Amino acid sequence: SQIKQVEFIKSSSKAKDCPKDDLPEFAMLGRSNVGKSSLINSLVRKKEVALTSKKPGKTQLINHFLVNKSWYIVDLPGYGFANAPEAARMDWSSFTKGYFLNRETLVSVLLLVDASIPPRKIDLDCANWLGRNNIPMTFVFTKCDKSKASKGKRPDENIKDFQELIRKNYREPPPWIMTSSVTGLGRDELLLHMSQLRNF
Ligand code: GTP
Ligand code: MG
Repeated sequence: SQIKQVEFIKSSSKAKDCPKDDLPEFAMLGRSNVGKSSLINSLVRKKEVALTSKKPGKTQLINHFLVNKSWYIVDLPGYGFANAPEAARMDWSSFTKGYFLNRETLVSVLLLVDASIPPRKIDLDCANWLGRNNIPMTFVFTKCDKSKASKGKRPDENIKDFQELIRKNYREPPPWIMTSSVTGLGRDELLLHMSQLRNF
């Protein structure tokens, strides 16, 4: 399940323009600053892989990276930018929703959730929208190495709180994996999980 090779293929502005070779893909989704670029680097074990310089920000592009010439990691625009005007958030949602609803080769969304902070409504809203639309998802909790802030809770406590909120909306809650790009926690587990989902 290890990553031997990664190559940037293209940026697309809609699902219709995405690669048409029918290879399975995983979409990385999460708030800006959740640790998406860091996790990708940790997965591919490279510090300066092309992925990091392809930070989508507000450019609203779907970036396809071909892994081992056989499956894709898709980097999506982050949501919930601090200070983003409501209009920009709406743009994000119409654009990204189109991708999720139309991309038949999507194996699973990896929804990144920052475990170092309490549950955020925007992450829960995103998870619930994916659930309502039957889009397969895996929760990937990031920054699990972070120790407790002076007033806050520990990552494992934040994760528990998040899952309790999720359970209210699911008969069968999605799988979840705890990760840290600093310690490498969850790296192999996530690679194996993706390998099992795509069947090779
Ligand atoms: P945008 O590209 O701005 O949307 O952010 P991003 O989601 O790609 O986050 P990025 O990987 O740039 O990480 C944001 C910050 O969190 C950086 O300061 C990282 O060093 C830090 N960070 C990311 N992952 C971890 C982690 O696992 N543990 C800790 N302690 N910090 C992390
Ligand atoms: Mg980034």
